[in-house]
Amino acid sequence: MENTNYVEELKAINEGKNKKYKVFTMGCQLNENDSEKIAGMLEESGYSKTDNENEADVIVFNTCCVRENAEDRLFGKLGEVKKYKEAKGTIIVIGGCMMQEKEMVEKLNQSYRFVDVVFGPHTIEKLPEDIYRSLISKKHIEDILDIDGKIIEGLPVKREDTIKASVPIMNGCDNFCTYCIVPYVRGRERSRLPQNIIDEIEDLAKAGYKEIMLLGQNVNSYLVSEKKKNKDLSYEVVVEGEKLIVNSFATLLNAVDKISGIEKIRFISPHPKDFTDDVIEAIKKSKHISHLIHFPLQAGGNNTLKRMNRNYTKEQYLERAFKIKNEIPDATLTTDIIVGFPGETEEDFLDTLDVIKKVRFEQVFMFIYSRRKGTPGDLFEDQIPEDVKHERFNRLKALSDSIVEETNNSYVGREEKILVEGFSKTNDNMLTGRTDSNRIVIFEGKEDLIGKVIKIKIIESHIWYLTGKYDTI
Ligand code: 5AD
Ligand code: SF4
Repeated sequence: MENTNYVEELKAINEGKNKKYKVFTMGCQLNENDSEKIAGMLEESGYSKTDNENEADVIVFNTCCVRENAEDRLFGKLGEVKKYKEAKGTIIVIGGCMMQEKEMVEKLNQSYRFVDVVFGPHTIEKLPEDIYRSLISKKHIEDILDIDGKIIEGLPVKREDTIKASVPIMNGCDNFCTYCIVPYVRGRERSRLPQNIIDEIEDLAKAGYKEIMLLGQNVNSYLVSEKKKNKDLSYEVVVEGEKLIVNSFATLLNAVDKISGIEKIRFISPHPKDFTDDVIEAIKKSKHISHLIHFPLQAGGNNTLKRMNRNYTKEQYLERAFKIKNEIPDATLTTDIIVGFPGETEEDFLDTLDVIKKVRFEQVFMFIYSRRKGTPGDLFEDQIPEDVKHERFNRLKALSDSIVEETNNSYVGREEKILVEGFSKTNDNMLTGRTDSNRIVIFEGKEDLIGKVIKIKIIESHIWYLTGKYDTI
């Protein structure tokens, strides 16, 4: 691969100089996964990680553009790192989704001319080349592709965790929800080949990983766009020596469930409209797929859902949610809500609260609608005033908090299976792990439990965690 040369060239330049890097991850879990690849490429190029930005020789910002506050954070931080650039020539690199937005790159070119390299999510694999070229030429390098990137296999990955790992299964989005910038920056849906996904997870299992998060902007559209071109598309894969057919998200789940050593499989994000019965069935009959399911509602009012282009009604959403809960009795759901989308009336908002009361989500991720240039939502004329958005946000939060507290209390006295993740950050004598529903549990135990699934009796509930007791006998 052409890239390897640049990795070697950079490594030769860095040889014996103890060069360091720092990556700022500013987005979603796909963005985090990209950061692990960025770190992997930098390590291969002779840099080692530092948490201290003032001792870094390369600083990489991996940006996000889903909401406006991400921009404010980037420009604030850029102002701070300028002093390192001036003092010792630190290389400043900016990548990620925000770099697919022309106005952002123009703003950088005009007002932040000290930035050395700018690259987008479709050119991530060229990072060593871009850094090398900027070092040699002392020029600003811009490496952004407008077309959809290919799926690049085999990039080195430097993972943050030793128990949990994320694995992308598809990239891009074809849904065009009217609030969302993702389809414009990440491009059209494209899926990884199933065997590549399985091989990666088998390798992770061999390396001792226990929990896998399958990632995609719309995971349950896995292979859907490929099947539009070839309706009979189907792959034979080999899992642990056994031949299986993969031709959909559900069949991929069946295959991943068979990988030995993996105790827990999670996935984000599915789209409710594509949450078909075969996916529910796959989760129900699996041994390792989590029963905590992220099920992003976005809004409860039918009028809002229609204008968001979500392609389901409140009633259809509730039908799917309760089908999951009925088929998988211990299933718990989490959700994303946007408040204050253009045209959202008080009645629409009450419908959102109504769904929350009915489904009783384990966790609600709440967002205030943020106008994104280039999306249809930005052009809608009936934007909601900021004070109304905030007032609705607060009401939503109060409701969600009260449900979370009630659910939290209901854990006390229960026996829960947890995957032990490591020592507690605040107390070295305590271990920490998570229930299937992703609640943090802190308990007393020995190091050899790390990486194991054990049963814990829950003793107390707190807002952010539970405490438990582990009985060895
Ligand atoms: N404004 C506010 N929230 C948004 N999200 C996506 N786009 C926007 C926007 N323009 C939220 C959605 C999505 C989550 C990742 O971010 O709820 O599910
Ligand atoms: Fe993730 Fe979307 Fe943000 Fe990109 S724009 S980092 S895909 S949330």
